[in-house]
Amino acid sequence: MSDTPDDFVSAIHKLRKDRNAIILAHYYQEPEIQDIADFIGDSLELSRKAASTDADVIVFCGVHFMAETAKILSPEKIVILPDIEAGCSLADDCPAEEFKAFRADHPEHFVVSYINCTAAVKAQSDLICTSSNAVDLVNQLPTDIPILFAPDQNLGRWVQRQSGRELTLWQGRCIVHETFSEEALLKLKLKYPDGEVIAHPECMENLLDLADFIGSTSKLLSHAQTSNASTFIVLTEPGIMHQMQKMVPNKQFIDVPGLDGCSCNTCPYMRLNTLEKLWKCLDTLEPKIEMDEDIRIKALAPIQRMLEMSK
Ligand code: 13P
Ligand code: SF4
Repeated sequence: MSDTPDDFVSAIHKLRKDRNAIILAHYYQEPEIQDIADFIGDSLELSRKAASTDADVIVFCGVHFMAETAKILSPEKIVILPDIEAGCSLADDCPAEEFKAFRADHPEHFVVSYINCTAAVKAQSDLICTSSNAVDLVNQLPTDIPILFAPDQNLGRWVQRQSGRELTLWQGRCIVHETFSEEALLKLKLKYPDGEVIAHPECMENLLDLADFIGSTSKLLSHAQTSNASTFIVLTEPGIMHQMQKMVPNKQFIDVPGLDGCSCNTCPYMRLNTLEKLWKCLDTLEPKIEMDEDIRIKALAPIQRMLEMSK
């Protein structure tokens, strides 16, 4: 096979059929990966899809914690990730052993962990949440129990403000959402005075304070479709703009540069996956997600609780 994008696309179509595979993709993937996926979604929707599919193989075009969640939910399936190095700074910021010590310091606390963490951290949690259901889930918890929230401090602060609950926060951060420049955003607001600022809750508080709408990637996408605004200033990874442009081609989407005008608003982990690596992993069924069965069972309970509570 030669290696033009069209060759990879035809080879992927054939292999996906032969293997009875489903290709799941997150909105931060390269446009050509989004275009070939069977399903695109935010973390919650992708988890639901991974739990319900009857495919034999799940190809997860996203990052490691997402593919790991798919394996936790569907252990009998082969789950592959095109680039096994596709991690996440939030998961890296919360090593399981340090988290164990943090928990031991707060023995009375109910532990809510953002899905952007490792299976070993999920296994130590009482409830998993995503950016789309975090506020709703915290609002459902009895008001007399103290809550520990990990690992994203920015999401945690936003949940705290939305729910009015006091949360003890782990100090993790997303290296992508933390790089948006307030100065650049203010300039864009002046340039597009009718533009709506839409933001992911992983952004820092000073940026969220300037937003008109805050939500998960899927919520940002549906807001762009239903809002009366015709211009949007988008405070999240610009991969999402591919779907925004496709869904509402008559509207304008502007991305916000990082500090000092860098293009570090692109997730370096998500972008490790390429069409060629997607083809290769379907061909070889490697790299596979594997995990200790004891951890998987412990991590499954708080994920199932999330799925039950966010029906
Ligand atoms: P969503 O669940 O909103 O898609 O977020 C995932 C993520 O990693 C954002 O950085
Ligand atoms: Fe992790 Fe941030 Fe990349 Fe999302 S954008 S996968 S939170 S590093």
